[in-house]
Amino acid sequence: MSAHTDAVTAIVLAAGAGTRMKSARAKVLHEIAGRSMIEHALVAVAGAGVHTTVAVVGHDREQVSAAIAAHDPAVVQAVQEEQNGTGHAVRVALEALDAPPTGTVVITYGDVPLLTAQTLAELLVDHRAAGRAVTILSAEVDDPTGYGRIVRGDDGAVLAIREHRDASADELAVREINSGILVVDGPFLDHAVAGLRSDNSQSELYLTDIVGIAVAEGRPVGAHVLEDVWQTEGVNDRVQLARLGHELNRRIVRGWMAAGVTVVDPATTWIDSAVTLAPDVTLLPGTQLLGATEVGEGATIGPDTTLRNVEVGEAATIIRTHGSDSVVGARATVGPFAYLRPGTELGEDGKIGTFVEVKNSVVGAGAKVPHLSYVGDADIGEGANVGAGTIFANYDGVTKNRSSIGRHARTASNNTFVAPVTVGDGAFTGAGATIREDVPPGALAVSAGPQRNMDGWVADKRPGTPSDRAARESESATTLEETGE
Ligand code: UD1
Ligand code: CA
Repeated sequence: MSAHTDAVTAIVLAAGAGTRMKSARAKVLHEIAGRSMIEHALVAVAGAGVHTTVAVVGHDREQVSAAIAAHDPAVVQAVQEEQNGTGHAVRVALEALDAPPTGTVVITYGDVPLLTAQTLAELLVDHRAAGRAVTILSAEVDDPTGYGRIVRGDDGAVLAIREHRDASADELAVREINSGILVVDGPFLDHAVAGLRSDNSQSELYLTDIVGIAVAEGRPVGAHVLEDVWQTEGVNDRVQLARLGHELNRRIVRGWMAAGVTVVDPATTWIDSAVTLAPDVTLLPGTQLLGATEVGEGATIGPDTTLRNVEVGEAATIIRTHGSDSVVGARATVGPFAYLRPGTELGEDGKIGTFVEVKNSVVGAGAKVPHLSYVGDADIGEGANVGAGTIFANYDGVTKNRSSIGRHARTASNNTFVAPVTVGDGAFTGAGATIREDVPPGALAVSAGPQRNMDGWVADKRPGTPSDRAARESESATTLEETGE
């Protein structure tokens, strides 16, 4: 087995049913840390220097295939119509290759999401250094129920993997288990899976039987014991999914702290796998950073903030905010209680303040929307200030239209901008104005007419109400004062 090339092929098994998830979604498409389990598996093998990856799909094949193709179209997909066991799945994978593998093959599962590229790389190094035909990734667990056991001889040499259901009482007592992750010499694998038989309690082709075959043929076999048992754990139900999701998050948060991020409360901070954080970011309690969120140096996020696919500039501050698919410039401030919907772009030093919702809009550098507003489909120029309680009425019930506010414009409280409308650079508006027509640069626009008081309206239209009584009491008190009685 020595004259092989060092090309590495990965086989990712993902054809199983996942009945215990009780889900319309395929098991391997359930997510932790913002990635489906199959994506975690593909990211790990890709990071371990694999040249060709074959994924074996079967159950919920359409969903799983589409997700794999979307993640990486270069992954070869092999369809296992019936799940006749892990050995059968590997046969199907090998048949899908143009030629039998001449190098090394890594076999892993689509439902073991904490396994890292580093562990796979170390497993490959160990396998090659020892010159083995098969290297098993094993682990010592407290409760080995259900797992295949590593059967060792008196000298400690690995002899076989025995499935739980086929194990003797002595073998059942073994706590060293087969994680299912194996590294195998390619030509040996091709030969060994061809010789598998289904004479076992499940009448399946067990991949694990290749260990016994190697031993019988005098080929070297060994196990690489992984201390970090979490990395070998699979997911069969939603309790395990949450448990591994929690542990993965703990690892991600710890990693960012090691890289110079302050996390005030790791227990309530959730960070997806693909998030990137610069040094001296501070995350306050209750923060969730999801998707491809990127946070620049010195920014402070939280408390109680959820950002998905948001790019946050240096030294920006985001307080009690829900945001997605948005950009926040350097030194800008957002919140408390802001809602950034897709397409929000806040410029450097800008402000989106309290109880403000923004969608598909640009708020320019240094521009401010400080209070109680809805900004939809608008372009707000650099240095402009939008008054409290402003609504950009972007939707006429049929189409959405854009509006724009010029540079250094000052719009007043409680304005409505009926789109499409343009307020020129440096223009002002009056309080309560409804702006339906364009405002030239430098102009003041007022729309409310002069105030008109209709005396006696309440006595006439709302007689006998508490308002009417209050008005009459106020009137007679004034009369008494005036007559001096
Ligand atoms: C398998 C191993 C066992 C190991 C355990 C670790 C065998 C015979 N047994 O047992 O030694 O301790 O994993 O979790 O290999 N799959 C397919 N096609 C099939 C069968 C399985 O793609 O026909 C996939 C499944 O989707 C899953 C993986 O292979 O991702 C393991 O299958 P599973 O049925 O969970 O194997 P176990 O019986 O638990
Ligand atoms: Ca399993």
